[in-house]
Amino acid sequence: MTIQLSGQATDFPRTSGQTCWQSPANIALVKYWGKYPVQIPMNPSLSFVLKGSVVKICMDYSIDPDSPFELVSFSLNGQVNDIFKSRIDNYLEGLVPFFPFLKHAQIHIDSESSFPHSAGIASSAAAFSALALCVCSIEAEISGKAPGTEAFLRRASFMARLGSGSACRSIYDGMVLWGKTEQLPGSSDEYAVKLESRHVHRRFMKMKDAVLIVDSGTKKVSSSAGHALMHHHPYREQRKEQASANLGRLLNALQRGEMPLFGEIIENEALSLHSLMMSSSPGYILMHPNTIRLLEKIREFRRETRAHAYFTLDAGPNIHLIYPESDAAQVIPFIRDELTSLCRDGRWIDDGMGTGPERIAHGSK
Ligand code: PMV
Repeated sequence: MTIQLSGQATDFPRTSGQTCWQSPANIALVKYWGKYPVQIPMNPSLSFVLKGSVVKICMDYSIDPDSPFELVSFSLNGQVNDIFKSRIDNYLEGLVPFFPFLKHAQIHIDSESSFPHSAGIASSAAAFSALALCVCSIEAEISGKAPGTEAFLRRASFMARLGSGSACRSIYDGMVLWGKTEQLPGSSDEYAVKLESRHVHRRFMKMKDAVLIVDSGTKKVSSSAGHALMHHHPYREQRKEQASANLGRLLNALQRGEMPLFGEIIENEALSLHSLMMSSSPGYILMHPNTIRLLEKIREFRRETRAHAYFTLDAGPNIHLIYPESDAAQVIPFIRDELTSLCRDGRWIDDGMGTGPERIAHGSK
């Protein structure tokens, strides 16, 4: 698919309006780690979106052909936030070649994040997917096209990727794949695609994600720095092969409904991601002692009960315990009785697979 660059950047009618989207975070099962310019992944990845961890963005815009682009204001949860404002300003300016109307847009953004205050969960995928959906909606409004079509979502996924790679996977519900792979016709490095329901066994339709908060502080090493370290990583080529092999095995497990194989692969991916960080130059460790204790507890619980509960980790110390909703009666008491004592202030978040982004009515921020 080709994503259209600009037409003529002139002759925009004066117009104004507001568009609002709510978009979720996603949890990767096969991890994206390492990238080429511009946000092209070194390996394909696969994730599902969450339900409770969402960002709402309301964009008020006015297009004035006599004025240049300006992000006039940005607020997060009712507070002005200049650090985020500057990142979003850069992002929107970078989108001008794709959206000529932006060149003459004055924008106000109000955002709200459902992410519990300093839970240590990255909200960038939710935020950039919501922003991309807003910009694509404004384009649709100006051109009189209907938002929500397949082409619209694909364009939004492409644009979300430019803000934060993993954000392109937050545009769709269900299991979502990003990165060109022979294992899925139609896949692309430039946008994500949703796995069709015939490729996902019903056992994987209602997955839960218990986020065990081990540390809620800011990461010592950002994901951007981690991606950059993959360029000269001694295991870079092996990682690309491993990710492709894990993706192929995961696609098979998802199709056949093989929960233990699913678990084996996602745990291998999580540990591999952290091994890559440790073996980077310089190497670094994001896991904490309690992260390891929790991983051991989860494996012990599984040996004893044969419940389907598997861990994955993002680039941080917190654990995502992934399990099918059908095992909740066994898993929830285990979390309460055995795991919360190892979480920071006993905190964990009961989340699960969500239904993807939603356009919110004007004024319902
Ligand atoms: O999208 P970024 O640049 O924040 O990188 C995300 C990297 C991981 O969360 C570790 C893996 C992934 O695929 O989401």
